[in-house]
Amino acid sequence: MTGIDYSQKIPNNVDLASDKRLQRALEAWQPNYLEWWNSVGPTDFNTKDVYLRTAISAEKDGWAHFGYVKMPDYRWGIFLEPRDEKRTVGFGDHFGEPAWQQVPGEYRNWLRRLIVTQADTEPASVEQQRLLGHTAPSLYDLRNLFQVNVEEGRHLWAMVYLLHTYFGKDGRDEAEELLQRRSGNPDHPRILGTFNEPCTDWLSFFCFTMFTDRDGKFQLLALAESGFDPLARTCRFMLTEEAHHMFVGQTGVARVIERTCQVMQAHPDKDVRDYGAIPLDVIQKYINFWASSSTDLYGAEISSNSANFFRSGLKGRAYEERYDDHLALEGSYAFENLVDGQLVREEVPLRNAMNEVLRDEYVKDNEKGIAYWNRVCERMGNPFRFRLPQRRFHRKIGVYAGGHFDLDGNALSQAEWERRQGDWLPTAKDRAFVQGLMQPVTTPGKSAGWIAPPAKGVNDQPADFLYVRA
Ligand SMILES: [Fe+2]
Ligand SMILES: [Fe+2]
Repeated sequence: MTGIDYSQKIPNNVDLASDKRLQRALEAWQPNYLEWWNSVGPTDFNTKDVYLRTAISAEKDGWAHFGYVKMPDYRWGIFLEPRDEKRTVGFGDHFGEPAWQQVPGEYRNWLRRLIVTQADTEPASVEQQRLLGHTAPSLYDLRNLFQVNVEEGRHLWAMVYLLHTYFGKDGRDEAEELLQRRSGNPDHPRILGTFNEPCTDWLSFFCFTMFTDRDGKFQLLALAESGFDPLARTCRFMLTEEAHHMFVGQTGVARVIERTCQVMQAHPDKDVRDYGAIPLDVIQKYINFWASSSTDLYGAEISSNSANFFRSGLKGRAYEERYDDHLALEGSYAFENLVDGQLVREEVPLRNAMNEVLRDEYVKDNEKGIAYWNRVCERMGNPFRFRLPQRRFHRKIGVYAGGHFDLDGNALSQAEWERRQGDWLPTAKDRAFVQGLMQPVTTPGKSAGWIAPPAKGVNDQPADFLYVRA
């Protein structure tokens, strides 16, 4: 049951062949998916052989197989973690009931909305990253970009499987729509803000995979708790793929920092820009931008939707097993509300604060990434220290969108914000400089001058391995 059947048109471990109607519906969606990939994916690289990993099993260990693949031939498929027959709903009003194998009728619309919102981010990121291959700083990075791209494509498959299987015609319509919306298109944009932001340079890409894919991690952790068992099992397998995306971001930014520190060491008191490196404070600005934008993805601080999703058992908390109380009916969550321009401490019923509870976990995880980058500075003998902007900084969603805040979360006047935002967010000049550094490096084993080479090859390959070949 858990072995992946690669003899099928759509590889899967869900015995798709036994449900002819579903199989036909998904096989009808498949060419539309490929058409989407071939028009807004990394199309200029479709004929290249890329050293990619493919899932061979959905079990915890040893699921990856590495080999050269042309991206359009990647075996996108449907892989769910094995079913646990004894699984029960882990939180909310249905706590302790057997997990659902079918969609509970009364929650159908909420569940569809949760799945579509998650699904929409997957093709969006592929669209955002589609031209980055032209400026990859090394073949190693080029390959990692494409690995992320094909896996985001697979995540779309994972969600479309759920839509097709459990939501009838509505689900099929939603699956079509997922191929119609476009990142950054003003008339038909992707659902969530961050997924419409341009991502045209590699520092942005590394920050995106660090902060935005990490939002993905926490959304998937919360959905992996779902009482709707097929969603939970799908998300658990997606998390194994997501881990690599965040690795790309975390180590990518670390290598940029390392390179800048090297240049600062070699040329003290000089502008590192003159030596083709990115100033540490500019890196910090990119961190500020992508971290704050991704912090918005959790939604409003006080949210009746989040209460409904929790109450109904559809979306839990990350690591629900770490809590003693899975009902969250008692207790409250204290946060700083913004009332008439003043921060006022308020208590809200816990269930209404589930977005904030999830955001807390996200912020904690981001802090670990920042500490990792600061260890690079420390190791290089550089006194600079990176920081995470306080969660109120530069928000577009939730109560803090109604004000302006500095990196410590202190309220600012509009005028003060206007005056100082260039110190905190990338300016047009910063962006032009970073963009100007983006030149492709395609010699095996070589990296661009603004980034240190990777510490280790993919799948233990040597430094000069040909990750992408003509
Ligand atoms: Fe994803
Ligand atoms: Fe991802």
